Amino acid sequence: MTDPAIRLSGATIGYGDVAIVRDADLTVRRGEAVAVLGSNGSGKTTLSRGLLGLATVLGGTVEVLGAPVGRLRERGRVGYVPQRHTVSGAMPATVREVVGVGRLPRLGLFGRPGARDRAAVAEAVDAVGLADRLADPVAALSGGQQRRVLVARALAAEPELLVMDEPTAGVDAASQAALATVLARVAAAGTTLLVVTHETGPLAGVLTRAVVVDSGRLTYDGPLAGAGAAGPDCHHPDEAAQPPVRGYRLDQPRPAPDAVRLRDGSR
Ligand SMILES: Nc1ncnc2c1ncn2[C@@H]1O[C@H](COP(=O)(O)OP(=O)(O)OP(=O)(O)O)[C@@H](O)[C@H]1O
Ligand SMILES: [Mg+2]
Repeated sequence: MTDPAIRLSGATIGYGDVAIVRDADLTVRRGEAVAVLGSNGSGKTTLSRGLLGLATVLGGTVEVLGAPVGRLRERGRVGYVPQRHTVSGAMPATVREVVGVGRLPRLGLFGRPGARDRAAVAEAVDAVGLADRLADPVAALSGGQQRRVLVARALAAEPELLVMDEPTAGVDAASQAALATVLARVAAAGTTLLVVTHETGPLAGVLTRAVVVDSGRLTYDGPLAGAGAAGPDCHHPDEAAQPPVRGYRLDQPRPAPDAVRLRDGSR
């Protein structure tokens, strides 16, 4: 039997020694597409960061693709779209370069990008509707467009498990619909999806199962359709207006070159 994509057993996840998500049990099989719902501050981001080794597992077990979190040999197998980000660095990074970072784990130690890598980057950028912006500095894009760049970066890695933290926040309706189409295709190809969202509408056709986080506890696990009460009242009024949250490390688990480093904070 194949290992599940995600297995949490009595898992407590937090920062430092502070537990945020407590005693969570969750098994996500390969190929499932799961929504993570819950109000602001309930622990959704902490849960997803725990899967990436970006938050601390304080107790219990967290396994991803059959390995204890952080021990996966090929990091490119898990893609991640962080909730908050800005693009920074000494040199302006273009859309192509930032999305190319998603490809790095696939290149091997001294690997140079080949035709397959360039195609994966181009496809991912096309999938988020930014093909005409490939050569533009990411810093010159709008907030919603930058979110889509991060989605493309995760897609470019062609991960087995794709963890997305509010990929549609601040993204216009047409782009949300386009993202839903892309995710449906990715899911059909067998990629496991875990998507934190306050807006299940656009992704309802893709995400079939939902878990609800409430004050750090998983309080619901079942069909998305049955998770109704947890969703609509808890949107972000204005993501960009929120103050930076200290202590986040929002780049992908594998360090990116300085020139294309993505990190936390508002502008
Ligand atoms: N880096 C951190 N260090 C310490 N505490 C943190 C850190 N990040 C988040 N927290 C705390 O963990 C709790 C859950 O935060 P989390 O970001 O997981 O919530 P969320 O469900 O993703 O909320 P939102 O819908 O607003 O994104 C909050 O009380 C928050 O203050
Ligand atoms: Mg969050």
